[in-house]
Amino acid sequence: MKKINKVVLAYSGGLDTSVILRWLKENYQCEVVTFTADLGQEEDFAAVEAKAKQQGTSEIFIEDLKEEFVKDYVFPMFRANPLYEGYYLLGTAIARPLIAKKQIEIAQQVNAEAVSHGATGKGNDQIRFELGYYYHQADIEIISPWRIWDMNSRLELVKYADQHNIEIAKDKRGEQPFSIDANVLHSSAEGKVLEDPFVEAPEYVYTRSVSPFEAPNEIEEVTIDFKSGDACAVNGKTLSPYQILEKLNTIGGKHGVGRIDLVENRFIGMKSRGIYETPGGTILYHAHRAIESITLDKEAAHTKDDASHRYAKLIYNGLWFSPERDMLQAMIDQTQNNVSGKVRLKIYKGNVMITGRESPFSLYNTDLATFEDDNIYSQQDAEGFIKLNALRLRNLRQDKE
Ligand code: ARG
Repeated sequence: MKKINKVVLAYSGGLDTSVILRWLKENYQCEVVTFTADLGQEEDFAAVEAKAKQQGTSEIFIEDLKEEFVKDYVFPMFRANPLYEGYYLLGTAIARPLIAKKQIEIAQQVNAEAVSHGATGKGNDQIRFELGYYYHQADIEIISPWRIWDMNSRLELVKYADQHNIEIAKDKRGEQPFSIDANVLHSSAEGKVLEDPFVEAPEYVYTRSVSPFEAPNEIEEVTIDFKSGDACAVNGKTLSPYQILEKLNTIGGKHGVGRIDLVENRFIGMKSRGIYETPGGTILYHAHRAIESITLDKEAAHTKDDASHRYAKLIYNGLWFSPERDMLQAMIDQTQNNVSGKVRLKIYKGNVMITGRESPFSLYNTDLATFEDDNIYSQQDAEGFIKLNALRLRNLRQDKE
């Protein structure tokens, strides 16, 4: 084991990182500095701090990154309309790069030669953290306890916690918790009963939305304003990026919007089942597509859609900090200059329904689209257009006859 003097641990205060804090001190006889990122998860940070202190942390950093997270990570990503495997809005994947970047900054500030995290050796998060670390400091030492120690299950972690008097948060039913990751964009739960993909997720897994079946019987109407691709106001009220997501979470959560039960393919190759709640993000996703529908040129929109799939995969795989993401981002951002205007929506029992959109840059041309009389479009021109497109199809037909 390499001699380490000081390590900065990405510390959530949950089961895994609490055990890791203790384990690092015991195994490396080193100073442990904890870093907790406030990304808008519902967390009692005073309790996290007290816990870290009680475990003998030498220095504690708790940083409010809420605005930076939404403004510089979530919003740029949402310009791409990113969905991994058709459904996942990447709530965990987009948070890891920011945590990694800040963690390296702190390591440099306190002169630590190593960083550590609580992601297991099976998942995506180890990759996302560590690609982020290496990008920001090529020679950083990384301690990934799950890949080193001989504890092989969360159950063994619970045992270790009991033996070492480490308090662990219980879920609402007093049981050992699911593996949870949460921030203002989403919360996700994995493990325990969810490991059987045929078993329906029990209602108590959900933390930020009501069931669509229990949602109010009244429709809620919402407007969202966009400026150059980013949402800037809800119901006519100008809000900061973080406040926008918070506001949309409240609305979406109340109406059961954005619950997803997913089996996904991890970067490593295995399939995993998770429950996601992304109420505000889901509303934002649909609204952004709606404002793009009137402001983007057809082929620009289609080219962007092609890139979107690739972009989502790249974020999922932890490559936010990479030349290829920079390239795609530049391309996507360039399409957003005129993506401004207002979208009207109705929210009802898990559904997000677009009911209207307008923009000073709208390319929607009533004169062209109308079923009524117009004098700028000649219907006769369509005949030649169709005949030329049919040229090769008719040619095929003749070959057969
Ligand atoms: N499977 C999701 C992803 O890779 C979430 C991972 C973290 N969530 C958790 N409950 N531990 O982005």
